[in-house]
Amino acid sequence: MRGLLIFLAAISISACSDSELVSMQQLSSGAKLYELHCSNCHQADGSGLAQLIPPLKSADYLSKSALNLPCIIKKGMQGSIVVNGVEYNQKMPAQVNLSDKDILHICLFVLQKFPEKPISVTEEALGQALQKCP
Ligand code: HEC
Repeated sequence: MRGLLIFLAAISISACSDSELVSMQQLSSGAKLYELHCSNCHQADGSGLAQLIPPLKSADYLSKSALNLPCIIKKGMQGSIVVNGVEYNQKMPAQVNLSDKDILHICLFVLQKFPEKPISVTEEALGQALQKCP
């Protein structure tokens, strides 16, 4: 019994340091993918474009819908939304060239980088949300 506990403790310690390593890789992969697939519209600094493209940087909409981000990327979105008090009503195309893993890496990067306070969501939670897109 005692041996088992020590064994389990050893696993959880190594799982923890592993996940920290992976997350550095996830963030840099997410940053590159953001640059390729998002920045032409939302801009490299996430500031958006006038009344056409909503900002991601300090966006109240993004903070309130962090777990919707995977589906926004996968399915795109359209219809009127209000971001930081400004109304937008354009179409964001579905990002059909991204794998699920790409989408999750972009989400991890975007949620660390753009909100006023980084939003920590696990890749697992984002992945589950991605399986349940409407
Ligand atoms: C072709 C331009 C375009 C591209 C590329 C694009 N978006 Fe968008 N995005 C939009 C538009 C336009 C809206 C607003 C949709 C609406 O009015 O309903 C939007 C809305 C959003 C929103 C919700 C509103 C907000 O500002 O919080 C998020 C989050 C978002 N996009 C993230 C992304 C991410 C991440 C990527 C890259 C995977 C991406 N977008 C790629 C145009 C784009």
